[in-house]
Amino acid sequence: MAGKVAKNKGTGKGKPKADKLWQGRFEGGMASSMERLSISLAFDRKLFREDIEGSMAHAHGLKAAGVLTAPELKKMLAGLEKVKADLEAGKDLFLPSDEDIHMAVERILTERIGALGKKLHTGRSRNDQVATDLKLYVRRRAADLETAITGLQQAIYRKALAYRNELMPGYTHVQQAQPIYIAHYLLSFFWALERDKTRMRNAAASAGQMPLGSGALAGSAFPYQRELVAARLGFPELSPNSIDATAHRDFALEFLGACAVLGALLSGYAEDFVLWSTQEFMYIELGEAYTSGSSMMPQKKNPDSMELIRGKSGRLLGNFTRLFTVMKGLPHAYDRDLQEDKEPVFDSVETLDLCLTVMSEAMDSLRFRMDSISKKMHPGMLATDLADYLVEKGIAFRDAHHIVGRMVGQAEAAGVSFLELPESAWATIPDGKAFRKRLTFAYSAERRNIAGGTGSKSVTSQLAQAKRLLKI
Ligand code: ARG
Repeated sequence: MAGKVAKNKGTGKGKPKADKLWQGRFEGGMASSMERLSISLAFDRKLFREDIEGSMAHAHGLKAAGVLTAPELKKMLAGLEKVKADLEAGKDLFLPSDEDIHMAVERILTERIGALGKKLHTGRSRNDQVATDLKLYVRRRAADLETAITGLQQAIYRKALAYRNELMPGYTHVQQAQPIYIAHYLLSFFWALERDKTRMRNAAASAGQMPLGSGALAGSAFPYQRELVAARLGFPELSPNSIDATAHRDFALEFLGACAVLGALLSGYAEDFVLWSTQEFMYIELGEAYTSGSSMMPQKKNPDSMELIRGKSGRLLGNFTRLFTVMKGLPHAYDRDLQEDKEPVFDSVETLDLCLTVMSEAMDSLRFRMDSISKKMHPGMLATDLADYLVEKGIAFRDAHHIVGRMVGQAEAAGVSFLELPESAWATIPDGKAFRKRLTFAYSAERRNIAGGTGSKSVTSQLAQAKRLLKI
């Protein structure tokens, strides 16, 4: 209940009570309501690896600074290693009174190796510790996401290769615009993902300055070699300023921004696939395992995988917005508000990891229904090619556009396509009879072999470039 004082007993049933590690100057305990607000272990336990590896590197730093002897370092490292192994094995070592993962690890260590455990926090504050943990986490997960993005690119590449000779309508404004190769459409996804990988790498690089040695905000008073600690943790740089290191979370924002941008990309392709699996389009069929039925309507096979991926984009943008709002106007240096930095990061990582897996698998399962695609391709998509042809015959593009526009209008009124208009309507077109025969969807696509265009030569070279990037 609000206002009730917990007297440090925690809320655990049957678990031993433990004093808080910062208890020194306090006489009473925290109100139980305040404990509920304060305790972050429920979520920051996800950082246990980063926290323990950070502590091990810090211990090396303390040895180099003369704070720990060689035997003490050895004992401390063995203790930390054991705590990590136990947590990895899923052992529940935590107490309800543990405030956060940093306190929990230190308490467990001290209980196991005795007084020596109390030396670990020398020259360190949870402020530089938590910033280090989160940077390590972001660097690792950004690399994992990059791998997952590559997995999706591989699935896209396979599908593009399979459909490299097949045409479909290309759309603008969801209106049939110009014919394109299916591979060209699919590769648009591939190339965008390549930039998402760059954004992941950039976010990891922004998290590349190691905070340890910054202490609470002013820098550690113990001259341990930060370079040595950073090298052990794989940080390429040291933070150049202890306030910057402990107060700022721009690296996390950048990472969440990259996640939100990727989420928006996935949602756009998911939307295409939802639309294209409708009875109205019938362009694609998703593997059954990535759809679901309706509890009421037996005929339904809903593209839920794509709808869920589309929906998750809201959550990914929300995570970015959530941390941005926390950061805005925060006084320097550390404030407890910063504890709010972790959950959005964890959530974006887990959400994207799952979305990328499902998108890759669904991509592999997807089949283009060439029969209905070719039936739905409208000859109107060739109007631009007729105008281009007139330009080649010496007519200014604006005039050509007008001539073709009139033919299209005439055709619409007659309920046919402009290719089906009577000979008389084609009379103004030089060599109109012969050209009408040449004017096919493949002709249109093949005229676009400019680098980046949909022509088959361009698509083949895109596929070759994609293959080189994937190293397959
Ligand atoms: N749990 C805290 C966080 O996530 C750790 C740092 C606490 N520091 C402090 N000065 N109270 O930010």
